[in-house]
Amino acid sequence: MAHKRLPRVVYEFLDGAAEDEMTLAANRSAFDAYTFRPRHAVSMAQCDLRTTVLGSEVSFPVLLAPVGCTRVMHHEGEIGIARAAGAAGTIYILPTASGHLLEDVMAAASGPLWYQLYLIGGREAAEAVLARAENVGFSALVVTIDTPVAGMRERDFRNGLKELASRNPLAKIPFLPQLLAHPGWLVNFFLDGGAPTLPNIIIPGRGPVPLLDVGASLARSAVTWNDFSWIRQVWHGPIIVKGVLTGDDARRAVDHGAVAVVVSNHGGRQLDSVPASLEVLPEVVEAVGSQIEVLMDGGIRRGTDVVKAICLGARAVLIGRAYAYGLSAAGTAGVARALEILRADVERTLRLLGCPSVAALDGSYLNPKHSQ
Ligand SMILES: Cc1cc2nc3c(=O)[nH]c(=O)nc-3n(C[C@H](O)[C@H](O)[C@H](O)COP(=O)(O)O)c2cc1C
Repeated sequence: MAHKRLPRVVYEFLDGAAEDEMTLAANRSAFDAYTFRPRHAVSMAQCDLRTTVLGSEVSFPVLLAPVGCTRVMHHEGEIGIARAAGAAGTIYILPTASGHLLEDVMAAASGPLWYQLYLIGGREAAEAVLARAENVGFSALVVTIDTPVAGMRERDFRNGLKELASRNPLAKIPFLPQLLAHPGWLVNFFLDGGAPTLPNIIIPGRGPVPLLDVGASLARSAVTWNDFSWIRQVWHGPIIVKGVLTGDDARRAVDHGAVAVVVSNHGGRQLDSVPASLEVLPEVVEAVGSQIEVLMDGGIRRGTDVVKAICLGARAVLIGRAYAYGLSAAGTAGVARALEILRADVERTLRLLGCPSVAALDGSYLNPKHSQ
């Protein structure tokens, strides 16, 4: 439905990934390397899907990853996502590239919200936004470390995303046919204000960052391990490091004060040809799993994917595109539907496996990995 509802340039921004999209494909096919070892003829009245993540109870082990620019996909954007996540009893991680004010997102939320940090606008802008996030009750900070520059998303390049977002009105003319072919999206986009900014990132003396400046500002303000002592001074809650793909980086994250890591390759949107998240999950669990919680994302589309990741040691998984497709299709209701589908999938999978709860999942429910 998202494919039908969105102009191509917007849909492919969501759906696409970096360069040859090898990591994007690997994120999916990695799940095929594992098969289940079910325990049949086990009777279960109910399966318990609950777990805790950093002490917060979630109704099932699926969190909503930070996905930037969702207000362009659907005008309800981050507010709709926060509503649906809270109603489903799980956590939403609000991206730095949010199109809605973080205070408004918090006001709409009924569950815990975490804040994802990029240093767009430098330390001064970040300090201001972190103080606001802490003040309104964001309960954890997710620092993304895999984005020193934006990856080369060739579909965006070919579609002319940069030209569409530019300030030159003439550059938008070639897009008219695809925009006019999606009148529902177009009307809502203009009723919503038309020219997206990142309202939470205020550059002193210059105001909010326009969406089209994000790439350039990212390249000027990459996060490094040296930033963590400053981050710990300005953020007093738990810190999670997102974008870990090796045991070494996971250990570094622990050394710099992380209480959890997200094994992630950014949904294949950054460095192409890095391994699938699921592939490196066991290495990271082996390195730091006894000290901190390990989360993972990348390629989760079905309940069986969620269950396999948990069997391999993830505390919970994050989904990105899976809920963003839902948002694009039907706003808040679409995100709710995507979560419902996944929840029903996880429950059915546990029953078919003969496993009473998410807490009881472990490697004994999987056959050893076979080469593809
Ligand atoms: C359109 C889009 C925008 C994203 N924006 C961000 C972002 O601003 N910050 C971030 O840490 N990750 C971002 N991600 C990565 C997601 O947090 C997550 O790692 C990824 O989507 C997981 O893969 P999946 O889409 O296969 O579930 C984005 C992903 C997509 C698809």
